[in-house]
Amino acid sequence: MKRDFLAVTDFSKDEIFETFRIAKQLKSEVKAGKTHHYFANETMSMIFAKPSLRTRVSFQTGMAQFGGQALYLGPNDISIGKREAVKDIARVISRYNNWIMARLFKHEHMLELAKYASVPVINGLTDYNHPCQIMADMLTIHEHRGTVEGQKVVFIGDGNNVCNSFLNFASVVPYHFVLAAPEGYDPDPETLSKAQKAGLSKIEVVRDPIEAARDADVLYTDVWTSMGQEAERQKRLNDFKGFQINNKLLSYAKSDALAMHCLPAHYDEEITEEALDGPHSVVFDEAENRMHAQKAVMVMLANSAGADIQV
Ligand code: CP
Ligand code: NVA
Repeated sequence: MKRDFLAVTDFSKDEIFETFRIAKQLKSEVKAGKTHHYFANETMSMIFAKPSLRTRVSFQTGMAQFGGQALYLGPNDISIGKREAVKDIARVISRYNNWIMARLFKHEHMLELAKYASVPVINGLTDYNHPCQIMADMLTIHEHRGTVEGQKVVFIGDGNNVCNSFLNFASVVPYHFVLAAPEGYDPDPETLSKAQKAGLSKIEVVRDPIEAARDADVLYTDVWTSMGQEAERQKRLNDFKGFQINNKLLSYAKSDALAMHCLPAHYDEEITEEALDGPHSVVFDEAENRMHAQKAVMVMLANSAGADIQV
């Protein structure tokens, strides 16, 4: 049976920590110039309905390090949802490739792709969530602070796809998640309520970034206007004023707090250049960890489906 990675909640707590262990091991091996061709001769179709730097390059490079190849299918190549049915795309690609990675607008399309594909599907972002990002982010927190459990992670800005994945993580691993968002920009209500009902993590949604930032272990932000929301940009620029990571906001957090951003960054909107380049920032560790975390997710999925990859 193939296994997909469409949301953080697809993994148990133990599996999440095993993924981190594998990611750290693979990372140290890459740094020592060692790679293992666990997926020699395998291929991955990467479907992108939206732009990307990190997701595209990290998956393609990771696949090459594993001895396989990844193919880039851009927004105009297969026009998912327009040119042919999602289920047909899933069935055709499954006849050519061993893996599918997709970045799509509609989360329902991701679910449909996974349902009809006979090969593993990995979610590289939808309008609803961004699970690979959160695996890399939590791995980064784990590396820098030695744990994620009990950490106070404060997300400043939009209750968007990245925020929904933080909430999904909170349903599986206990930590303290605070969203500081303006009225009208709360996360997906069902995801929020599920995370609260799971009863593992302390979860807060507040309106005041300064109150939220007090004693934070991590201050995290993402763009105010996500891909696909460009028509709302002007309104969002007004609505999110003050929801910015800068040195003043960082002064309310713990003295050794981490400043994080999934990138791409819009300087002087959600983060200042000073904060992103400052001593708190681990932004480029996060970006790097996308690759190691995703490679570890692939090993986990392959082993669940019967492979015996020992990392
Ligand atoms: N953080 C992230 O997913 O970056 P890209 O949009 O460049 O892939
Ligand atoms: N929320 C952002 C994340 C980019 C990686 C977006 O969807 O555009």
